[in-house]
Amino acid sequence: MNNRRIITTEESEEDIRIEGTLRPQHLSEYIGQERAKSTLKIYIEAAKSRGEALDHVLFYGPPGLGKTTLAGIIANEMGTHMKVTSGPAIEKPGEMAAILNNLQEGDVLFVDEIHRLNRQVEEVLYPAMEDYAIDIMIGKGASARSIRLDLPKFTLVGATTRAGLLTAPLRDRFGVVHHLEYYTVQELTTIILRSAEVLHVEIDRNGAVELARRSRGTPRLANRLLKRVRDFAQVKYDGKITEKVAVFALDLLEVDRHGLDQSDRLILRTIIEKFAGGPVGLDTLAASLGEDAGTLEDVYEPYLLQNGFLNRTSRGRMATELAYEHLGIAFPK
Ligand SMILES: Nc1ncnc2c1ncn2[C@@H]1O[C@H](COP(=O)(O)OP(=O)(O)OP(=O)(O)O)[C@@H](O)[C@H]1O
Ligand SMILES: [Mg+2]
Repeated sequence: MNNRRIITTEESEEDIRIEGTLRPQHLSEYIGQERAKSTLKIYIEAAKSRGEALDHVLFYGPPGLGKTTLAGIIANEMGTHMKVTSGPAIEKPGEMAAILNNLQEGDVLFVDEIHRLNRQVEEVLYPAMEDYAIDIMIGKGASARSIRLDLPKFTLVGATTRAGLLTAPLRDRFGVVHHLEYYTVQELTTIILRSAEVLHVEIDRNGAVELARRSRGTPRLANRLLKRVRDFAQVKYDGKITEKVAVFALDLLEVDRHGLDQSDRLILRTIIEKFAGGPVGLDTLAASLGEDAGTLEDVYEPYLLQNGFLNRTSRGRMATELAYEHLGIAFPK
């Protein structure tokens, strides 16, 4: 399938360049996710007033919804530093021990894709999270012994797109667990208007709403579409993004009015045309699309499920009546 899709919610090189400037630094600038925000606010204030480190926090949810951003905000609000690493980057227990040992009191250690830590590395985290300590083996063979090293009190912030892959002992050690939700069109409109201001892009409210509607609930995508459409506005119009410009540009980019792109439509079309609308098993569907089943499940499906284009049943995936209607195919009665 098209893996350079404009609406991929995975981070691209282009995003890294613009996200630096667009990333909110404080809770007050962070739009939406009201539940997560209000509980974090309370925990942060309580920890600060006790002069303690914040409890460990786990964020899970689809890519691009603001997990990394929130981790940075926590460090900012606590007035501490954030160290960043990720599950696949740490191969040996010793590497994790070294990172932990270098933390300062109150620091935030952000571990992205935490479900990809290997088991031995993960085990270093258990005493670190629970008792702020690590056990280190000294010597070899018969004279080997383990000594306990105290760590500064720190906050682990873990992020994952796949909470189901986290082991129970690790998950249980997080005091605060938050599922990030897709954003509403209204929230995305606010985010787009804010980003436009930061980037000095001229846009009117209807233009922003149109972009928001096609951003599949994802701020990362909203910011990317804003940038793409700005280019259109500059080259083909007088630089201002209006609803008309947004519609024109997004149609050219083949992001339709529900935020679906060619890949999404191909998935729905395949279920309808090759599997009579389903039910079809995930693996069968993935094979037929030449796509990896895990990617299909984590990257493509959530939005289609949430927006009523797809149903997940015990016998497999089914295209809904809305999917038929959207593709202009008659729904079999
Ligand atoms: N609540 C928000 N308000 C404003 N902008 C946001 C918000 N959440 C995210 N963004 C914007 O979206 C971009 C992507 O967010 P972020 O990198 O935090 O997502 P993520 O959940 O960590 O994604 P991934 O799973 O790919 O790591 C940020 O750079 C930021 O500009
Ligand atoms: Mg991230």
